[in-house]
Formats: sequence, C-alpha cells, structure tokens
Amino acid sequence: MKKGLTILLTLLLVLAMSSVAFAAKGKIGVAMPTQSLQRWNQDGANMKAQLEAVGYTVDLQYANNNVATQISQLENMILGGVDVLVIASIDGSALGTVLETAKLEGIPVIAYDRLIMETDAVTYYATFDNYMVGTIQGTYIRDALKLDTREEPAYMEFFGGSPDDNNARYFFGGAWDVIEPYIKSGKVIVPSGQTAFEQIATMNWDSANAQARMDNLIAAHYSAGQRLDAVLCSNDSTALGVTNSLKGAGFEKDNFPYITGQDCDIANVKNILAGYQSMSIFKDTRTLAAQVVKMVEAIMSGEEPEINNTTDYHNGVRIIPTYLCEPVFADINNYKELLIDSGYYTPDQLGL
Ligand code: BGC
Repeated sequence: MKKGLTILLTLLLVLAMSSVAFAAKGKIGVAMPTQSLQRWNQDGANMKAQLEAVGYTVDLQYANNNVATQISQLENMILGGVDVLVIASIDGSALGTVLETAKLEGIPVIAYDRLIMETDAVTYYATFDNYMVGTIQGTYIRDALKLDTREEPAYMEFFGGSPDDNNARYFFGGAWDVIEPYIKSGKVIVPSGQTAFEQIATMNWDSANAQARMDNLIAAHYSAGQRLDAVLCSNDSTALGVTNSLKGAGFEKDNFPYITGQDCDIANVKNILAGYQSMSIFKDTRTLAAQVVKMVEAIMSGEEPEINNTTDYHNGVRIIPTYLCEPVFADINNYKELLIDSGYYTPDQLGL
C-alpha cells in the first residue's frame, strides 16, 4: 500500500514536472490569411501540428482575407502573451502599427511565405523562392511552345497575383524575364497588349476576378476563333478562373492553351489529369512549416536560425534575413511521384 502510494506520488510529480516543461516551451501565434484557398488550410494545419509535436501551445487564426480581422487577431495574440508571431499577411503593408506593439513587447515576428512590408518589426522571413517560381513557369511555357525553334509566332496572355501581396511581383518578374526576349523578337505575341503588372494583376488572387478578365480578353481578342497558345497564370486560383472562362467560351481540349499554376491545389491537379492545365508549382507546405518550426525553436533558445538569403528581400525598411525553400513543378509526367508517393495526397483525393 505504502509502495503504491510512493509510486503514485512519483508519477504525479513526473506529470507535474512535464506539464511545467510543456508550458515553459511557450505559446506561438500563427496568423493565416484565409481558409478559402486550399494551401493556407494545409499551411495552418502543418504549422499547428508540427509546433505542438515539439511542445508549443498554438493560437492559429484565419482572417477570411480581411485585413482588419487579421489586425485584431494579432492584437489578441499579443494580449494573450504569445512568445513568437508567425504571420502570412493579407496586405503586406498594413501591419505596421500592430507589429509596433509586438516589437515593444519584445515578440519576434516571422513573415510566413509573404514578406511583411514597411516595418522594422519583422525579424525573419521564410518562403519558397518566389522569383524562381516565376522562372520555372516561364521556362515551362518556353519549352512547351518550343520558342527557340518554332517558325511561326505563339499567342499568349498573362495573369498575375494580388497587387497587395509582395510575392506577386516576384512571380511575374521571374516569368517575364524568361518570356520577354521572345516578345521583343516577335516570337510571342500578346494580343491584348497587357503586359504591365498593374494590367495583369488579380485582386485577392480571386478566381472570379481572373475569370472575368479572361472573359473580357476573349470577347475583345479571341471571339472569332483566334489562336491562343498559352496563358501564364501565377497560381492555381487564377488558373482556375482562366480555365473556366476558356471552357465557357468553347475552347476544347485539342485547342486548349498551355496554362501554368502554383500550389498543386486538388481542383487544379484534377485539371492537369484531365488535360486542362499543364503544370502547377509544387510548394510542399510540410517543408515550409518544418523550416519555420526550426526558426521558432532557434529563436526560443536564443540562437540564430538557419538563413540562406541576406540580399534579396528588402521590405522597404531593411533587408530581412530569409530562408528560401526550393519550388519544383508538377505535371502529368511526375505528379504521381511528387504528390502521391510523397504522401501529400491520396489517390482518392485526386479522384484516381
Ligand atoms: C503564395 C501562393 C498563393 C497565393 C494566393 C501567395 O502569396 O505564395 O502560393 O497561391 O499567395 O494565396
């Protein structure tokens, strides 16, 4: 009986000590932009699971793409005593004031995927190499259209991302740098003439906005059966809008343009399998989350996190030390290995 009591007391002591150790690891605030796009649900879920697995408490919030909501969520996280903030911003330039408070409270801020602009309260940035995303998309189109060897010109349009997302210009810039020489030499023609970022941007990365712009382009330039060989779309939500518009206008599989994307959203991978989209950049959200968790761990133990870029990401105030993960592309030839064999999706999710 006495022995039993001793064991019980020891057990209780161990439990109490481990819960102290658990609580002592800290609380991390994770602010995500929206649940309406598949990738952010995965990012949020991966961050939460991976942080909890190493002993942190997590306050995960989604802001429905509403800047004011995100700001008030951040205020609550600060009030709630978080030790580190991880933020995927909606409008990269709108968080200066709230992050000033974080800075005063000594809370380090990691910009997640999207750089937070115009504030010195950002400590680190982790993302996939945004410029490289664009060059991979541009190169894919260049090779698909055989721009180096073809005789006749190819016809093409561009769809970029949201102007309030710092990434959007990097994506477009990377693609543009690959394609522009062919526009100059006359190998690529853009019938709409819309090639400036402001003209091709898609507010909120919204599929409906992309679809409406493609509807307009078709009405103005392609309604008499003119050829369209490629539409460079910066991500999957824009690609989806463009694809829907083209289908609605009667483009068939055999005259469907090459379409790029990014995120490997399920709907878009299904379109790749069905022959309506050519590729999508695969940014394994598990990898980015793992890298950010390593950053949090380093910060919390007073060490320097791993950084591999200290030159490219100036946020308007200073260069933010950055870790860049490497993006790759998925298409009909490699999707199985990248997306299924890696455990990212089950065949069932892709309707296979
Ligand atoms: C992300 C992309 C995503 C887009 C729309 C960008 O900041 O880097 O992966 O497609 O936002 O959510």
